[in-house]
Amino acid sequence: MLKICVMGLGYVGLPICLELSKKYSTTGFDINKLRVSNLKKKKDFNNEFKKQDFSNKKLIFTDKIEEIKSCNFYIICVPTPITKTKKPNLKYVKRCFDIISNILNKNDVIVLESTVFPGVTKNYARKLEIDNKLINNEDFFVCYSPERINPGDKENTLSKINKILAYEGKNKKIKKKLKDVYSKICRNLIFTDKIKEAETAKGIENIQRDLNIAFFNEILLICKKLNIEFNEVIRLAKTKWNFIEFSPGLVGGHCLPVDPYYLTYIANKKNYKSKVTLAGRSVNESMKSYALKTIYKRIKNLKKSKKSNIKICLFGLTYKYGVSDVRNSQNIEIFNLLKRKYKNTLAYDPFLKRNNFNWTKNKLNRYDLYVFLSKGKIFSKIYSNLKNKNKIVDPFFYYTN
Ligand SMILES: NC(=O)c1ccc[n+]([C@@H]2O[C@H](COP(=O)([O-])OP(=O)(O)OC[C@H]3O[C@@H](n4cnc5c(N)ncnc54)[C@H](O)[C@@H]3O)[C@@H](O)[C@H]2O)c1
Repeated sequence: MLKICVMGLGYVGLPICLELSKKYSTTGFDINKLRVSNLKKKKDFNNEFKKQDFSNKKLIFTDKIEEIKSCNFYIICVPTPITKTKKPNLKYVKRCFDIISNILNKNDVIVLESTVFPGVTKNYARKLEIDNKLINNEDFFVCYSPERINPGDKENTLSKINKILAYEGKNKKIKKKLKDVYSKICRNLIFTDKIKEAETAKGIENIQRDLNIAFFNEILLICKKLNIEFNEVIRLAKTKWNFIEFSPGLVGGHCLPVDPYYLTYIANKKNYKSKVTLAGRSVNESMKSYALKTIYKRIKNLKKSKKSNIKICLFGLTYKYGVSDVRNSQNIEIFNLLKRKYKNTLAYDPFLKRNNFNWTKNKLNRYDLYVFLSKGKIFSKIYSNLKNKNKIVDPFFYYTN
């Protein structure tokens, strides 16, 4: 009987765990005791799921290795951040493989879903072989399936996303098992027998996006310097059939600011110095200071009496509209810097449920400046309701032309 264990119950792991538990006996395992205790109470502080989503009988949550010993299908969804020196930090992935190594049974299937650089999956599979004196793809089966889940996205939901499954073995029963399990989550499965290629594909998807946004950010900066209207430039350019539009803005989260460093790390090891892959990073990272400069410039232009006790209201704190995730959020950094300088700085973000910024609609129109850092329906509505448009700072021209 199939007994699934999802390791890591964050933005990626929890949705997979909940979906699979509709069909299979599923154990959600996380080393974060608080996360596990909240999930046991059917509380998801990532704000992706409601109480009723936890109603499956075949589902348990645990932080105890003892309770996942009898599982035979492991799905690893743990973080893959970078270190302070921007090198891949694989400690969470390593820990998962160490745990599995201690409880590995013959015929177990292990699927790594975390974003890694090419070669990581096979390196850990090799380590399992050595530690257990067993053979990968004969005694146990290590696969890779990059995750494309897009938290906050109501259109490209888990079941609609094409899912890549990389399995290098020849065992038809294992392939069928993978197909059976993953077809319960996603409608369209794409099989490959090349793990390194699947790892690389995942990396470049995010790097491409990082570069495209960086290009639009740079065009925005150039337009500002040349006193040219950015939105009009884009309106005109996109009338060409092959022009691809992106939005400028603050780039944060666990993926885009991180993944370019994974690929360049391994390329470097092979003496290839990347010329393009990291090119977007510095521009995207600099957009925080661009936004701050825009805000400071507006403050400078205010009357002296206003400046001393200025009241600023900022919209959008999480790294993108629609999610509660604040990892690598430049929005938060901007808020903190402003707050340090101007104590009457407040922020509103409906997606950050645990915030204490105490926003109420009737406070609208009480501020000296309204700063929009995020693009989305709720903020657009607030923007439209603001009477005095002269008080608005919209650094990325999300709402103003
Ligand atoms: N968040 C996204 O939008 C997204 C999208 C696609 C891919 N990814 C990738 O998926 C992976 C997971 O990202 P996430 O956003 O879900 O991270 P997350 O931080 O939201 O969740 C990870 C969870 O793993 C737990 N964990 C850490 N080490 C563990 C261990 N050894 N055993 C069990 N649990 C452990 C943490 O406590 C945490 O709850 C990353 O590689 C990321 O790059 C993320």
